[in-house]
Amino acid sequence: MTDLRYPAVIVNFKVYSQVEGQGALRLAKICGKVAEETGASIAVCPPIAELSYVASQVSVPVLSQNVDPRKPGSGTGYTTPSAVKSAGASGTLINHSENRKPAEDVGACVSMCRELGLISCVCAESIAKAGELAAFSPDMIAVEPPELIGGDISVTSADPGIVRGTVAAVESVDRRISVLCGAGVKTGEDVKAALELGAKGVLLASGVVKASDPEAVLRDLIRYI
Ligand code: G3P
Repeated sequence: MTDLRYPAVIVNFKVYSQVEGQGALRLAKICGKVAEETGASIAVCPPIAELSYVASQVSVPVLSQNVDPRKPGSGTGYTTPSAVKSAGASGTLINHSENRKPAEDVGACVSMCRELGLISCVCAESIAKAGELAAFSPDMIAVEPPELIGGDISVTSADPGIVRGTVAAVESVDRRISVLCGAGVKTGEDVKAALELGAKGVLLASGVVKASDPEAVLRDLIRYI
């Protein structure tokens, strides 16, 4: 496992059909190849079913797509931070738009990750929510307007103010938190714009996962970093 550095490109595989079974490792290896050949900091979030397998096979940081605020024990179907760490992950997304949690659960997940040495990347849908969740001091906050997720217009062009505003709101609470942005990010120009707006990287999915040539997309994404 290599460290997650900034600027960071975090590829969330979600649960697209392209990353079921061997597809997850195939894509993670492409991410690893581009990271190794270019020196770019790329992390992957495979589906939870493939987390352990992918983490055992690649050298890029592997993050879980979710954790639940549960300790090991009885809790059928939950994903504990402890299990994610044992699976070889470096960290986790928390509170993704497609898997929201009450704020108190977000705080509990961040604390559990901190105790275990797992990187926490908390997602937020607005400037106000990002400011609120910054109080838990996760390592990263990724702002993603839900209506732009999976679309073709990058948050950096559709709503640059939300990126700038989130950076300011989060910095006013805790300057140690790195702000990322996501939703519709697909090109090197989008990543460049994100960094110019003050973000430390991007969180993206469909632009890479659904691409016919993910390697070409990744090489374009990291073109300016
Ligand atoms: O977690 C990344 C995400 O929600 C953005 O998805 O497909 O717009 O890059 P996408």
